[in-house]
Amino acid sequence: MAILLNQETKVFTLQTKTSAYQMKVADYGVLLHLYYGRRIGDCDLSYLIQRTDRGFCGNPYEMQQDRTFSLDYFPQEYSCFGIGDYRTDCVKVINGDGSCAVDYRYRSHRILEGKYALEGLPALFAGEGQGETLVIEMEDQCTGMKLELYYGILEEADVITRAAKIINGGEKTVLLKRAMSMCLDFNTDGMDWVHFYGKHTMERELERNRLHHGRQSVGSERGTSSHQHNPFVILCDPSCTEETGECYGAGLIYSGSFLAEAEVDQFHQTRLVMGISPDQFSWMLNPGESFQTPEVALIYSGEGFTPLSHKFHRMASEHLIRGQWAKKRRPILINNWEATYFNFNGEKLLNIAREAKELGIEMLVLDDGWFGKRDSDYSGLGDWTVNEKKLGGSLKELAEKVNALGMKFGLWVEPEMISEDSNLYRSHPDWTMRIPGRPGNVARSQFVLDFSRPEVVDGIQEMIFKILDEVNIEYVKWDFNRSISNYFSTALPVNRQGEIGYRYMLGLYRFLENLVTRYPHILLEGCSGGGGRFDFGMLYYSPQIWCSDDTDAVERLKIQYGTSFGYPISAVGSHVSASPNHQTGRKTPLETRGTVAMAGSFGYELDLRCLSPEEKEIVRHQIQEYKQHYDLIHEGDYYRLTDPYGDCRGVAWAFVSQDKAECLLCAVLTRLQANPDGVIVKLKGLNPGKRYRAGDKVYTGEALMYGGFLLPLPREEYQSWRFYLKAEE
Ligand code: DGJ
Repeated sequence: MAILLNQETKVFTLQTKTSAYQMKVADYGVLLHLYYGRRIGDCDLSYLIQRTDRGFCGNPYEMQQDRTFSLDYFPQEYSCFGIGDYRTDCVKVINGDGSCAVDYRYRSHRILEGKYALEGLPALFAGEGQGETLVIEMEDQCTGMKLELYYGILEEADVITRAAKIINGGEKTVLLKRAMSMCLDFNTDGMDWVHFYGKHTMERELERNRLHHGRQSVGSERGTSSHQHNPFVILCDPSCTEETGECYGAGLIYSGSFLAEAEVDQFHQTRLVMGISPDQFSWMLNPGESFQTPEVALIYSGEGFTPLSHKFHRMASEHLIRGQWAKKRRPILINNWEATYFNFNGEKLLNIAREAKELGIEMLVLDDGWFGKRDSDYSGLGDWTVNEKKLGGSLKELAEKVNALGMKFGLWVEPEMISEDSNLYRSHPDWTMRIPGRPGNVARSQFVLDFSRPEVVDGIQEMIFKILDEVNIEYVKWDFNRSISNYFSTALPVNRQGEIGYRYMLGLYRFLENLVTRYPHILLEGCSGGGGRFDFGMLYYSPQIWCSDDTDAVERLKIQYGTSFGYPISAVGSHVSASPNHQTGRKTPLETRGTVAMAGSFGYELDLRCLSPEEKEIVRHQIQEYKQHYDLIHEGDYYRLTDPYGDCRGVAWAFVSQDKAECLLCAVLTRLQANPDGVIVKLKGLNPGKRYRAGDKVYTGEALMYGGFLLPLPREEYQSWRFYLKAEE
């Protein structure tokens, strides 16, 4: 039983394998947060709350002369605006009488078998007998507004999830201004927070800062989770390292605009809130209606970032990614984008496919440019009809020819967009998200379709499904190449315009759900100009996501390093591309491009016809090696062995199998030296008592982990190595 309720103390303790989370129904039904950390029993930790009369800290009226109970500094489970808690809050409303207060108090609770699901939204799932749910029901006795707090407990996976449902149980319409998924209070300050910022072609760079007094936040207003900030953050001890210290990861399972805000208060306590960005959000709640927030997944580690990452990786693989591709071996693909851009025809594609097949590649992905009038990115989006002239035949014929080579066929789409120069725009200009009377804001010469309108989603879905019905397509790359701005829907009344962002996400998720249900054999790869929507929400539908439009192997070292903190290796779409690299102009050895791309769902994205016979041999070998180590890479534990931001000459990482019998050590030299120092990499996760063979050398696990592994002397810039270590019987 993972949920303990002490009837006497009214303390709920949620236990996972190594963590515990505690809250208490305190005086007058105020729900206090007591603890999140290393696993404990149901001992009531409310004694840790300093109860004293603190200046300028008001008290709920019922306390009368008791000034020692204050929402201004007591830790809360779901903090409400307007009733004396001035810290960053979870919920803000405008009531029917114009007032802004909501005061939720405990009413009852339900304990349910299994993990709850959220209607229309992605959420973690649990297999038979794996999860439990606690629902705490709260109410504001003045207005009748209700709240259900959802807690999902995945004991074995060490995950606790949170979500909230706000219900108008009153008689007047209420305007919801803010509805966060959770708040998490800590009775301490001086914590660091780690967040992942970036830009197009450099996503998820790690930044670690000491939290200071006041509020600090990361988030997105772009309608997507964004390249700029990822909806995954870590709060930790300042001394936390990969292997030591306490840390707490929070991942929002949502792909739209979000806010993650931390605040250190006047009494040196810390609060984290996370959820939908409130800035462009409002929601009219009529009597009887409810609003469901997205879910946040929480994981605690008392042993640093490495176990935290491993737990998030397992969580995504076992409880988020669905369908047959969650576990099935993903095909090695060749994508024609960086090989041809828009300049291709059917014959050119087939020639690439023939070369690819020769080398052992298993699937051709036809990227942008196969439909409508689309020979550049100035036109055509929305016209999902095949350009047969360009392909020299139908798409079905092309796919059949690719299949006849013994390869799968995959297709790129960007269903949420519309070009002004398109038939769709000419026939349905109102489907575009645009404010009447304003020219708007174009990006990549395209507009966003108003997916908050079900008929728009249905119209696009019909066109895309027609193609998927007719052609043997086994992979779809779902792209999204701009940020949303000028939010407006002609279908919504004036007082509901704040609902567009969330309604848009419901429309997108409905489309994706329909797609994965109707075509379970299709492997979906998410994409948004690379990794602009690399989040747990998208992973519920697409088992892999194109990690970045930056395919430079050296830049990817940082991108993939940052990504690995929250997201599993199998989710990372990564390809070997040409040298000089198209984004940076950097030259890197083909071997190194392979080493880096192998830390993910592997593929190629270059014109294979231009490779020399020697290079083709390298590619052949890479493919064999990737296939050989597929399970180790996808199912093994991933270890970051160096910090690419540190003063190191190389970047190294390793995959270690669950039974610690196999290890693939990968390293890239990033800085050459004359008269070079030896570069020693300390391995992690091995069995210290085992002997590991690498080629003709044998080392003990303890020697490799505590002494290290000496990399060979480099012969060229950006040289890389892959060493396969196998434990001897
Ligand atoms: C952005 C993607 O990230 C690229 O891989 C490619 O698909 C282009 N869009 C096509 O327009």
